[in-house]
Amino acid sequence: MTATPKAWFEETYPDLPLEVVSFLQSRHRVLIGGQWVDSVTQKKFPTFDPATGKVLAEVAEASAEDVDEAVKAARSALEKGPWPTMTPSERGRLIWKLADLVEAHADELAVIESLDNGKPRSVARAVDVPLAVDLFRYMAGWATKIEGNTIPISVPYTPGAEYLAYTVREPVGVCGQIIPWNFPLLMAAWKLGPALACGCTVVLKVAEQTPLSALRLGQLIIEAGFPPGVVNILTGFGETAGAALASHPDVDKVAFTGSTEVGRQIVRAAAGNLKKVTLELGGKSPNVVFADAQLEEAIPAAASAVFFNHGQCCCAGTRLYVERKVFDRVVEGVAEEARKIRLGPGWDPQTQMGPLVSEEQLERVCRYIEEGKEGGARPVVGGKKKEGQGYFVEPTVFVNAQPQMSIVQEEIFGPVVVAIPFEDPSEIPPAANQTIYGLAAGIWTRDISKAHRLARELKAGTVWINCYNIFDAALPFGGYKQSGWGREMGHAVLEEYTELKSVCIRL
Ligand code: NAI
Ligand code: MG
Repeated sequence: MTATPKAWFEETYPDLPLEVVSFLQSRHRVLIGGQWVDSVTQKKFPTFDPATGKVLAEVAEASAEDVDEAVKAARSALEKGPWPTMTPSERGRLIWKLADLVEAHADELAVIESLDNGKPRSVARAVDVPLAVDLFRYMAGWATKIEGNTIPISVPYTPGAEYLAYTVREPVGVCGQIIPWNFPLLMAAWKLGPALACGCTVVLKVAEQTPLSALRLGQLIIEAGFPPGVVNILTGFGETAGAALASHPDVDKVAFTGSTEVGRQIVRAAAGNLKKVTLELGGKSPNVVFADAQLEEAIPAAASAVFFNHGQCCCAGTRLYVERKVFDRVVEGVAEEARKIRLGPGWDPQTQMGPLVSEEQLERVCRYIEEGKEGGARPVVGGKKKEGQGYFVEPTVFVNAQPQMSIVQEEIFGPVVVAIPFEDPSEIPPAANQTIYGLAAGIWTRDISKAHRLARELKAGTVWINCYNIFDAALPFGGYKQSGWGREMGHAVLEEYTELKSVCIRL
């Protein structure tokens, strides 16, 4: 017997779990109507390991025709078969079972995520996977609690008549869900969890940069016992598969997470059949440190607010406003945190920050850094790509930036923060609110009145006080202004996946 030659990733990353190796080497197809099938065109595209730039796997490239098949499968599962007649309790149990399966495969999923996305596997294991499990469990509980109201009505033009009126919440229908690459598995969970709890069916289009963890999740969805067609998973590009899903006339709702620019395209595409739209878009979140803050906590937290996930977070705290009295100390502290961060491949247990997800993102982030320097801002630390293979950028702290510069106004989506001094608290609301975004904000102070007053003034969907990047399945998340429409998580999301029906009976 001749031994099969080892794949490059087995050589590069010794001790990869066997199940991960065999998953990577398996044939990656799309999930439609409960079956794994090749795309209609049979075309494939590669997904890369961003730490080396090498090809990890090839996956099926879905086109508009595959979208059409998937939508048909989702429509059929919504209207026929076991799903629409399943009790809420049975639906909840399936979601809970999926949570158990994700938890049972947590190590494997974390490794897949780390290889495909670049994030340290320890982070994927500690954050992405447990949050996905928790989200599914939380939403499993909601399946049995989606209630309407009874409503006393008067109807002045039918004197003497009596009525019973009530509302019911019904599934919004076939949902097209389009997700990004920064938290691939977690974004799939955020989208699927509420849709399934509400009894919808789904066509999920995953990001072309990171298709793998959702494909493994698809296998677990089948194993959990969801009826065929309830969840359909497509790998493919935004301009083709994504656009076809957003404009499809038989899709009732589209939920999108990604750039504000594509968010606008989604809205236009959805106009054809006026499908419901929710959007979770970009951010340029202010993180405000007052002189009276507990600086030993605020400094490392301000660093992590932007450097977590390599800055590839829609809510990253990228504008660090610091009261003048402590500006130098905070900037030096955050710069010191940045210097300490060990860059490396996600597989290495020593790694604290991995590469950016793709060459495109590397170029994009480096372009912003250059614009910052050309405009006269100064990087106290970082300010360039790391030489060698992979898409690494050094954690970067800018000072001396002007308010209208692109590094202050635009979403960079890399490990780049701009520190800006202020003299008086009254300067903060106008400065913090001066971008097109309104996703999140941070406030650091020991003065609770000051904190609450400022929280009220900030136009942001989430305000963290003396903490940052705190997420929970029960806490709604979403954006003001051009950061989005609607909310994810919490019970708020249930409204986004249900239609409200009023029923009125004359007694
Ligand atoms: P993107 O918005 O182009 O991609 C996100 C998802 O949308 C992917 O699944 C993609 O295939 C899909 N998509 C792209 N064009 C589409 C279209 N015309 N119709 C339907 N779906 C489409 O984001 P991209 O290009 O990956 O990253 C560019 C920038 O977007 C980043 O630098 C960052 O600023 C922002 N972004 C924000 C995210 C967030 O969490 N809010 C996540 C990812 C990116
Ligand atoms: Mg794009």
